[in-house]
Amino acid sequence: MILFDEKNRLFHMTTPHTSYIIGIEKEKYLTHLYWGRKLASIRPDNAYVSGNMSFSPNPDREDKSYSLDTMPQEYPSACRSDFRGPAYGAEREDGCLAGELLYEGYEIVRGKPELSGLPATYTEEDSEAQTLFLSCRDRISGLKVILSFTVFTGLDAIARSVRFENHTGKTVTLDRALSASVDFPAQAYDLLTLPGAWARERHVERTALRSGCAAAESRRGASSHQQNPFMALMERDAGEDHGNVYGFSLVYSGNFIASAEVDSCGGVRAQIGIHPQMFSWQLADGESFQTPEAVLVFSGDGLGEMSRTYHRLYRTRLCRGTYRDQKRPILVNNWEATYFQFTEEKILEIAEEAKRLGIELMVLDDGWFGKRDDDHTSLGDWVEYREKLPHGLKGLAERVREKGLAFGLWFEPEMISVDSDLYRAHPDWAIQIPGIVPCEGRNQLILDLSRTEICDYIIQTINHVLDHAPISYVKWDMNRHMTEYYSPSLPAGRQREFGHRYMLGLYRVMEAITSAHPDILFESCSGGGGRFDPGMLYYMPQTWTSDDTDAVERIYIQYGTSMVYPVSAMGAHVSAVPNHQTGRTTPLSMRADVAMSGNFGYELDLTKFTEEEKEEVKKQVAVYKELREFVPSADLYRLKSPFEGDDASFLFLSQDKKRFFLTYFQIRGAVTYHVRHLKLKGLEEEAYYRCEETGIAYSGAELMYVGLRIDKNEGSCGFLEAYSRSWRFTRIG
Ligand code: DGJ
Repeated sequence: MILFDEKNRLFHMTTPHTSYIIGIEKEKYLTHLYWGRKLASIRPDNAYVSGNMSFSPNPDREDKSYSLDTMPQEYPSACRSDFRGPAYGAEREDGCLAGELLYEGYEIVRGKPELSGLPATYTEEDSEAQTLFLSCRDRISGLKVILSFTVFTGLDAIARSVRFENHTGKTVTLDRALSASVDFPAQAYDLLTLPGAWARERHVERTALRSGCAAAESRRGASSHQQNPFMALMERDAGEDHGNVYGFSLVYSGNFIASAEVDSCGGVRAQIGIHPQMFSWQLADGESFQTPEAVLVFSGDGLGEMSRTYHRLYRTRLCRGTYRDQKRPILVNNWEATYFQFTEEKILEIAEEAKRLGIELMVLDDGWFGKRDDDHTSLGDWVEYREKLPHGLKGLAERVREKGLAFGLWFEPEMISVDSDLYRAHPDWAIQIPGIVPCEGRNQLILDLSRTEICDYIIQTINHVLDHAPISYVKWDMNRHMTEYYSPSLPAGRQREFGHRYMLGLYRVMEAITSAHPDILFESCSGGGGRFDPGMLYYMPQTWTSDDTDAVERIYIQYGTSMVYPVSAMGAHVSAVPNHQTGRTTPLSMRADVAMSGNFGYELDLTKFTEEEKEEVKKQVAVYKELREFVPSADLYRLKSPFEGDDASFLFLSQDKKRFFLTYFQIRGAVTYHVRHLKLKGLEEEAYYRCEETGIAYSGAELMYVGLRIDKNEGSCGFLEAYSRSWRFTRIG
C-alpha cells in the first residue's frame, strides 16, 4: 500500500511486513526517512537530523541550518553540497556537471507498468502491486527525473527504477544513472556479496564495512562469474535466521556496480545500477533514458527470509512463459560425455540408454554446426556439420524423438569465429576498433549487438534452425567477456553507450526468439554461471549454474547462488568421476543429491555406467520425478553453511508445507565424532512428519529443537570421504 501523508509531507509504502518512507524536506528535497520492519507511522523530525557540519556547505543562503551532505536522500545529485557518491550525473552542453534534484509532484497507480525493452518484475493482476512515481527536476541541467517505486502486496519487495526525460531544447548527457540509492542511518553494517571466478561462481563473502567505499562490480560486458549484481547490507548481529538484512538485486545482465559507502558520520549510502565507468548516454531534446530495475528486499529475520522473498518473486513474477510453472524435463547433455568428438551414432546410443533409465531430454551441446571440431572455428555458421550429422539436425532430432526422448540444442548466438563463413562475409560485424587487432577470448569475437541489422540476422538465423527441426530445449551459451567497447555505427559522443546498447540489443534478440517459440524451454549459460542474473531469467527461466560439476564444489556454488536465485533457476547435473574439473571422486548418490537440489540432469556417457550404477540411476530418476512436484518451487531453508564448517544441509519445504526434501553433505570428514543432530527449520511444531526412507515419524518440534540424528558413517574413526544423505518427509497429521 502507498499513502501520501499530506500533513507530514511523506510517502509511506508498505508491504506485508515492511515500511519504506520518503519525506519531502524544505518543500523540495526527497529524503529517505526509513526502510525496515513495518511501522504504523513515523515522526519525520525523529527520523534523522540534518545537522550543519563544518566543511559541509549549504545550498540555501536563506536557511543555513542544513547541508545535503548530511541529509539522507532518495536519489542524490552531485556538486550541490553532498560529497557522497551521487546516483546520477547530468552534463549540460556547456560541460557543467552539477545537479540538484527538486521534487515536483507524485502519482500513484495500481499494478506495475512495464519497462520497455528491459527485463523487469511484473504483475498479472493490478491488485498485486502499487506504483509510486515521484516527478523531479534537475534544476541545473533541466532534466525531468521520474523515480518509480513498486510495492508488492504479497511480498516484502520493492522494485525501483528511474526515467530521465529531456525537454530542455538542448542536449544533456548522463554520465551516471543508477537504479537505486538508499541512505542508511549510522550503524555498524556488514556487506555480503557473491564473488567468484569461472568454475567457482557466487561464493559467499561477508565483510565489515569501514569508512569509504566497498563495491561489487563488473566491467566485463556481462554480469560475470567474478561478481553478481547483488549485495546485502546486514546489521552486524544479523545471521541466517535473525536480524535486519537489506538486499539489493539488479535486473540486468551487463556491467554493474553495487556499492556501500560509509560516510564521515558513519551513515551508509548503498547504491546499485549500471556501472558508470565506460557509460554515458546522450539525451537530445525529446529523448529519454530508462534505467534497469533494482529489486530491494528487507528481512527482519535474516538472510534466509530475504532469499525466500527473492525466490518467490523471481520464480513467479520475473520468470515468464510456458515453463515458469511447468515441470522441467530430466535431461542428459553430451558435453562432458564427448566434448566435440561425437558422432550421430554416439548421441543415439546415449539417448537410447537415457530412455531406459527414465531420462526425458537429450541435449546436443557444442560442435554440431559449421566445421566445428574444437573451439577455434564456426561460431556464427548455424548450419549442421554434415560429417558429424549425416542425417542433418532434423534427422537426428527425429531419431532421438523416435526413441521416446525430446531433443535439445546448444547455441552461442552472440559470437563469431574468425574462421567462419559469417566472418568471411561480414568481418566488420565483430566488435573491434578499426586498425587494432581485437582481443580474442576462447578464440572468438563478439558480434556487435548494438547494431540493429546484426540483431535481426541473429533472430532470423536462430529462428530458422528452431523452425526446421523438432527442438524442445535450447541452451544459450556465451563464452567470453567484452574488450573493445566500440561500434562504427555510433558517433563519437555516443561510444560510451555501447555496453548498454549491446544489452538492449541482446534483450531484443532474446525476446524475439523466445516469444516466437513459447513451447521451447530455454536455459541460459555463460561458460557455466557467468551470466546468472535476474535479467537473463526474465527471458529464460533457468541457467546453467557452473561448468564445475564436482559435487563438493557445487555445494558452495549452489549455496551462494541460493542467496538470490530460486531452485527452479539452477541447472545441476550428475557428471562422471573423477570429476573433469577437479579430479575429485564423490559417490554417485552424493552427485545426485547435489543435482536434485536444482533442475536435475546427467552430463556423462550413460553407456559407461555398470549395471549396478544403472539401477541406482533409475532410482534417482524416479525419486526426482517425485521431488520435482515441489522442490523447484519449495521454500528453501539453509540449515548448514559449507562456508562455516565441514558440512552443509538444505531443506526444501513444499508450498503447502506437507512435504519436504532434506539433504545433508559431509564435505570433509571429522575423525571420531559420534552423532550429529541436524536441526530443521520452517516446520510446524505440532505437526507430525514421516520419513519415507526409514518410516519413522517425528513431531515438527522434535525435528527443529532436538534435530534429526545423523550417525557417523562406517569406519571406526568415521567415514572421511565426502558423502551425502537425503530424506523425503511427508506430513501425516
Ligand atoms: C560452456 C558451457 O558452460 C558448457 O556447458 C559447454 O556448453 C561449453 N561451453 C561448450 O562450448
